[in-house]
Amino acid sequence: MDALWLSPIYPSPMHDFGYDVADYKGVDPVFGSLDDFDRVVDAARERGLRVLMDVVPCHTSIEHPWFREHPDWYIWRDEPNNWLSAFGGPAWSSLNGRWYLHSFYPEQPDLDWRNPEVVDAMQDALRFWIERGIAGYRVDAIDRLLKDPELRDDPPASDPYGLPVSDDEAKLALTNSRNAPDTGSALAKMREAVGDHLLVGEVYLPSAKWQPYLEHLDVAFAFELLLADWDAAVMRRAIEGSTRRPGAAWVLSNHDFGRLGTRFGHANARAAALMLLTLPGPAFLYQGDEIGQADGPGGERAYDRAGRDRFRHPMQWDPSSTGGFTSGEPWLPAVDPERTNVEAQHDDPRSMLSLVRDLLTQRRLLGGGLELLDAAPGVLAYARGDHAIAINTTGEERPAPASGDVVLETGPGALRKGTLAPHAGVISMGLPGSQKG
Ligand code: NOJ
Repeated sequence: MDALWLSPIYPSPMHDFGYDVADYKGVDPVFGSLDDFDRVVDAARERGLRVLMDVVPCHTSIEHPWFREHPDWYIWRDEPNNWLSAFGGPAWSSLNGRWYLHSFYPEQPDLDWRNPEVVDAMQDALRFWIERGIAGYRVDAIDRLLKDPELRDDPPASDPYGLPVSDDEAKLALTNSRNAPDTGSALAKMREAVGDHLLVGEVYLPSAKWQPYLEHLDVAFAFELLLADWDAAVMRRAIEGSTRRPGAAWVLSNHDFGRLGTRFGHANARAAALMLLTLPGPAFLYQGDEIGQADGPGGERAYDRAGRDRFRHPMQWDPSSTGGFTSGEPWLPAVDPERTNVEAQHDDPRSMLSLVRDLLTQRRLLGGGLELLDAAPGVLAYARGDHAIAINTTGEERPAPASGDVVLETGPGALRKGTLAPHAGVISMGLPGSQKG
């Protein structure tokens, strides 16, 4: 492992659990203080780890002093247009006789990145954490950074968006409410502030449309794979599209989309981890997935308007009732610490945790690039240099595309006499070139 990505820790009224920032240069007391933060960065560095922060440049909290003190830093209109909020309903709310834009919740007013004062303030915030020793940023919702300067309606859709959107959004082309052609000028300002530090973009676009973003960001999350079903053909297409050019950052689960074991089924969690950690380029593993934690029941609906708390139960370190996550009472309960926890898996060579550790070692030994391989229906296979990776996405035995020496397997007997066990994944050495597809 190289780095820890912290989702937002800034002071926040938590209408969107930290993605509504009330001070870009502080730490919410719920999490600690700036001194605590410095200690985390130092402790991580001592262990060979860097820290990535989450920056939320497109909107602030409605409680950020900027909203009161600098209303002109935000986007206003006398009447709403037809733009939609990502969480449903119009993207406009009224205040004092005018309407302000919020691409997400009404408590998250959108900043106007065409105002140079906004750019200065955000550059200042970006530099603040870089100077405190972080390695870079995961950049939130960056496709919403710049919109049509004239705030024109989104026209009716003529083509599908290319990634899942709500039924209402699917009726619109979504060309004016996001991804403005001059977005690059704002991204260049972010790049200017962070220098060579890493910028990972949460760009909600199909990979074919990443290019303007990758001119300034290092990598973008590959949503096509994140949103793919556990189906070899679908995942193959997603990987093919996202690897056509360099720049994919891989992620299969996070605080918005649920955990590996629940999304793909417990039986497939190991193979999913094997896929995630054998693709070329940076991979993000959601804390808890390394031990196969499942989604939980969630929390009180009033606080969880988008139904994502079930993905956000705390990490389970030990079998105690709070999973060792806190000595206090966690915001959300632990799900099943008595069954799934780090302590129990730590020294067990067959555990999910051991598999993930082995994968983290092995991924450094894989060759560069990626070539998709021909394989039986239900089997996803690709070569990384001299290594072949094969994943059986089905519940039945399937012929493996290669039968070289097994370097790593999701469980004993994953590959036997050229046959992949149900739900199994393997990394093996050596492949006949003719099988490259
Ligand atoms: C993406 C974040 O991952 C999500 O949790 C948040 O609600 C939205 N951006 C808005 O900031």
